Amino acid sequence: MVVRVVASSALPIDLVAQVQAAVPGTQVEVPAAGHAGFAGVNLSDADALVSLLLDRIDAALLERAPNLRVVANCAVGIDNIDVGAATAAGIAVCNTPDVLTEATAELAFALMLAAARRIGEGERLVRAGAWTGWALDQLLGVGLTGKTLGIVGFGRIGQAMARRALAFGMRVLHADPRDDAMLDGRAVTTAPVPQVTVDELFAVADVVSLHCPLTPTTAGLVDTRRLARMKPTGILVNTSRGGCVDEAALAEALNAGRLFAAGLDVYAGEPAIHPGLLASERVVLAPHIGSATTETRTQMAQLCADAVIAVLSGRRPANLVNDVVIR
Ligand code: DGY
Repeated sequence: MVVRVVASSALPIDLVAQVQAAVPGTQVEVPAAGHAGFAGVNLSDADALVSLLLDRIDAALLERAPNLRVVANCAVGIDNIDVGAATAAGIAVCNTPDVLTEATAELAFALMLAAARRIGEGERLVRAGAWTGWALDQLLGVGLTGKTLGIVGFGRIGQAMARRALAFGMRVLHADPRDDAMLDGRAVTTAPVPQVTVDELFAVADVVSLHCPLTPTTAGLVDTRRLARMKPTGILVNTSRGGCVDEAALAEALNAGRLFAAGLDVYAGEPAIHPGLLASERVVLAPHIGSATTETRTQMAQLCADAVIAVLSGRRPANLVNDVVIR
């Protein structure tokens, strides 16, 4: 039987050449340009899929692919995949960690600076031809030196964000919702980045930056109650997943002046954006570009190729997120 690999999207590497060199005779299908998805594609004899976060890999899709051995997701986030269903079907799921850590932290840091210093508002003012010249009180922002950055989710990207903030003279705290019960209100003084509870972090931080995956625990983590704990000079940055934030509550807090600003790269219903956020001058809106550098996207695609080749060659792939037997 012919081994078959299907990618949902064009990739910045030559997947066809790489897979065919490693596993001769493999049929590899990659769209010529852009994202085509898997709808309407016959997956009945597919051995491997290369997916994007745009592709919902759920039980229904897996049923269409009874021969599937691996899904290589070109993202670190795997909330688009029903990992439980894949594991039950013996399908390996791989993601692309590490290579996007610095790029995503750079974007999060850029959003923090842009939100604090009102760069989006300034840019719009200038482009509208409405700038009448320097003024002592024009577009006053919030200084960051000496302020506290609270990081929710202290994995690779959260730690990369912390390094940048420490170099900028900020104090840094972190929290992990999974540890809250264990902390029981106490701060854990692990220098230079102590751990506090999520609620404590929202109360003391000047900037809260989300770096947690979207899970049932983190869905809606930033809600009306937590936003109310933030300082009116506070800033929220989100480069993780939109579903971690109650966007209506955020828009309300911003538009009521109960929060200074937000810098967002991700949204609950992408590409739709909550109208209250679009209406707010104080939100810097980026179109989910955390990992969007040429170097990073190329490395992400390469990790997907490596994962597919490993599984098709009977080897354990490097970034396997579930515990399955590799055939
Ligand atoms: C990811 O990897 O999860 C990002 O959201 C896209 O790079």
